[in-house]
Amino acid sequence: MAVNVVKLAVIGCGDIVMGQHLPTLLENPSVHVMAVCDKDPVRAAAAGAAFGSSYHSTDHKRILEDKEVQAVLVCTPPWATPAITIEALKAGKDVLCEKPMATTLEAAKQMAEAERLSGRLLQVGFTYRHGPLMDALREWIESERLGRPLQIRLSTFDEEWDPEGNPEHYERILNTLRHGPPCIHDGAHAADHLAFLTGSTPIRITARGLTSRPEFPSPNYNSALIEFANGDQAKLEIGWFFPGFPPGEFQILGPKGMAYLDRAKGEAILISNRLTERLQLSENRVTSCFRVQLQKFLTSIELRQTPVPGSQEGISSLLLTLAFVQAMETGESVRLSGEREP
Ligand SMILES: NC(=O)c1ccc[n+]([C@@H]2O[C@H](COP(=O)([O-])OP(=O)(O)OC[C@H]3O[C@@H](n4cnc5c(N)ncnc54)[C@H](O)[C@@H]3O)[C@@H](O)[C@H]2O)c1
Repeated sequence: MAVNVVKLAVIGCGDIVMGQHLPTLLENPSVHVMAVCDKDPVRAAAAGAAFGSSYHSTDHKRILEDKEVQAVLVCTPPWATPAITIEALKAGKDVLCEKPMATTLEAAKQMAEAERLSGRLLQVGFTYRHGPLMDALREWIESERLGRPLQIRLSTFDEEWDPEGNPEHYERILNTLRHGPPCIHDGAHAADHLAFLTGSTPIRITARGLTSRPEFPSPNYNSALIEFANGDQAKLEIGWFFPGFPPGEFQILGPKGMAYLDRAKGEAILISNRLTERLQLSENRVTSCFRVQLQKFLTSIELRQTPVPGSQEGISSLLLTLAFVQAMETGESVRLSGEREP
């Protein structure tokens, strides 16, 4: 075992843990997954076996009482995440919690307060802002290769509607929609991307929602137009629960050029001054983002540095996605705090 190995526990062992966090954690020699927890005993046992952890539990309190556990990944649904995260911080653990950190602003602020009072660290799982592709896009923007203002076009389609083929997934996503439309869930990443790329704050949002089947508890197709303080604009589309998906967009247009991210190919492309620059990942983009995210968490722990993205970025993302919901529900544009810069 390597020196300075962080002893870690995972709370909530569902889809994203077994599919993405697990391989990333197992390959990293600086981390040892001591314990895993899921309130579902079958999942807890399966994760314990897959991680080779010392023990597994259905009770997160058992994990948080363990003095040997230094840090915790909280990968529960966002309506369960705030209370567990606050307990973990109070128990002296550093925390990487999944996005969105909460579904209400009050809960997110309580998490930030628990972080401040405990002196522990809280990172939020905005996984896809990490890595060389997003760094390249931001560098192209900051070095004025695209000019200003920007028009950013982002769309994400996910969670295939297949109630008969995959009833467990259908029920899980239906339940997630009871806790807010997709703009609250996947929209958390999109809102973070916009903050990361524009470096600005949203000042106004106009939005529409569509419920494509009457049994869905909230609109499963969400679209919005967003204005930023620096004059940039964005068009967002997030759709869940369709039987097939159009390709997602990730394009940035400016007066001097355009850049885009081909998420499927793991490639960032800049077209500016009639020249094309490309950056291609040599590995799967999602795997790469999870690896960098974990490494940044471990570095923050080692250096005792406030993680980025942390609670402040989590709250900023939630402010925008909650305004998105409000704009959809009222049909009126919603002003966020902040003014248009001169
Ligand atoms: N960063 C990313 O790219 C990414 C991708 C997918 C999902 N997510 C986020 O990760 C979180 C989990 O998503 P998922 O798809 O894995 O969901 P999931 O439902 O498959 O897994 C959540 C697990 O948490 C467990 N759980 C719930 N409450 C618990 C509690 N009090 N104590 C212990 N376990 C508890 C459930 O039993 C379940 O196994 C969500 O917030 C989601 O938005 C992030």
